[in-house]
Amino acid sequence: MNTKIAHFGFGYWGPNLVRNFAATPDCKMNWIIDQDESNLQRARERFPAIPTSTNIQDAIDDDEVRAVSIATPAATHYQLAKLALEGGKHVFIEKPLCSNVQEAEELVEIAHKHSRILFVGHVFIYNNAVRELKRLIDAQELGEIYCIHSQRLSLGRVRSDVDALWNLAPHDISILLYLTGEYPTHVRGYGHSFLQEGINDIGFIDLKFPSGIAANIHCSWLHPKKTREMTIVGSKKMVVYNDVSPDAKISVYDRGIDKKNPIRGLEPIESFAQFQLIKRMGNLTVPNIEFPEPLSVQTNEFVRCIQQNRQPSTDGKMGLEVVRILQQASK
Ligand SMILES: NC(=O)c1ccc[n+]([C@@H]2O[C@H](COP(=O)([O-])OP(=O)(O)OC[C@H]3O[C@@H](n4cnc5c(N)ncnc54)[C@H](O)[C@@H]3O)[C@@H](O)[C@H]2O)c1
Repeated sequence: MNTKIAHFGFGYWGPNLVRNFAATPDCKMNWIIDQDESNLQRARERFPAIPTSTNIQDAIDDDEVRAVSIATPAATHYQLAKLALEGGKHVFIEKPLCSNVQEAEELVEIAHKHSRILFVGHVFIYNNAVRELKRLIDAQELGEIYCIHSQRLSLGRVRSDVDALWNLAPHDISILLYLTGEYPTHVRGYGHSFLQEGINDIGFIDLKFPSGIAANIHCSWLHPKKTREMTIVGSKKMVVYNDVSPDAKISVYDRGIDKKNPIRGLEPIESFAQFQLIKRMGNLTVPNIEFPEPLSVQTNEFVRCIQQNRQPSTDGKMGLEVVRILQQASK
């Protein structure tokens, strides 16, 4: 049986979600809702079979609708998700889950109370390149992970409702939580605003994880070149994940600095004075990765979670931890 979904927010990102939900097997779009009539006109031109409305209540009152997908500005997320969950709907919500920790905790609680799925659109967790990174780490192919450096830079889209960190860093933070399987013990953030007073165009976050992994994130919408790059430095190998590369998203470098005992080769080292640091320059390999559109994997997973009554990996709890880190960094 088809799972019926209503979508809220047909601005820049909403059409991508509607396109993917409309193409998801066993799924039917019952509504597209937006408070702006001109956006609904665009929606009707593109998806003539899907009814539209400016009134959210039309979707909440529709008993056929089992789930709501939300792609409105972050400041509206809490109110819309709460309304939908309390109306008995499962919720897919774009990142960030909401604007502060208190609201995020409340949404997790409401979803739990009503036994509903709260699925946060941390789309990179449904990206096969990120899954390959996770596989490499879990299989110990990189050795001990020392540090992870993430850059998400481009020229625009400049927003006025959130700063560059709240807009862009949810992607990097969710990837880091997924890859490490840990929550950071230390978070420090800072940023700079140039274009609009009080809204940072550039942001940085430093994180430290319990296992010792150090990570940092650099986000900007004021950068000449589109860069979506994550570098993972392990004791055995290093990886560069370049999300904008068409054919070499993941490059694995068999490179590093080995500690070598000059007298006893690679035997265990007893004191600092006994070893030398030797550069190792091995091969570069580029694994071949099948790459279905991550958004389609994500929308499909939301529908399967509803139909199979199971929780996604990008659940409300993950969304909450991402918001917690953003809030700490913004302090
Ligand atoms: N996953 C991604 O890669 C990605 C990319 C871009 C945006 N996003 C997320 O999608 C969300 C929307 O971003 P956007 O760039 O599309 O914003 P946008 O401003 O372009 O569009 C938002 C739309 O929501 C509508 N809207 C606002 N308040 C509403 C309300 N109360 N009820 C009904 N409609 C309402 C607006 O009229 C507008 O059409 C944000 O959370 C953003 O972070 C995610």
